[in-house]
Amino acid sequence: TEDSLLYGSGYQANLGWVTTLLRDDDVLLYDEYNHASLYDGIALAATTTNLKAIRFAHNDTEHLERLLIRVQKGAVSPNRQIFVAVEGVYSMDGDLAPLPRISELCGEYGATLVIDDAHGTGVTGKTGRGTSEHFGMKDGVDICMGSFSKAFGMTGGFLSADREVIDYLR
Ligand SMILES: Cc1ncc(COP(=O)(O)O)c(C=O)c1O
Repeated sequence: TEDSLLYGSGYQANLGWVTTLLRDDDVLLYDEYNHASLYDGIALAATTTNLKAIRFAHNDTEHLERLLIRVQKGAVSPNRQIFVAVEGVYSMDGDLAPLPRISELCGEYGATLVIDDAHGTGVTGKTGRGTSEHFGMKDGVDICMGSFSKAFGMTGGFLSADREVIDYLR
């Protein structure tokens, strides 16, 4: 990506984007199997922001699409943002997100796709770039989060995205 921002841990990276990017009336649709750090980020963001966080059934893209349609119909403001958060490789079951379809849906419904690739970074894809590389995707993921506490055997976390997004987060 164009730029990245480093955090002390992957946990902080997840808290970082959720508490910074979501504004009043924004919607976050997330896979029910997302890591606890996303749940904590939502809880923290909800203390200052009137956001709507809705869980969808694990890897169920039909459920996700139904929610996207419902969210679009109920739009309260033209500036309202929609985020979709999934993992690349799920930490609990080790299965992969159907990323190409999820990315397609995000494009169709104007949602920002954020992928937690803590377990994909350094492992999946031909050169270890992660789950999007595994699926041969050149773009279609807006923000990629990763941790250095898995394949890299260290500590730390990051968010990678377009320069504008990273500048804003910084
Ligand atoms: C999917 C996922 N996201 C985020 C994290 C948090 O990363 P860190 O250990 O760097 O805080 C973990 C760690 O267990 C994880 O499995």
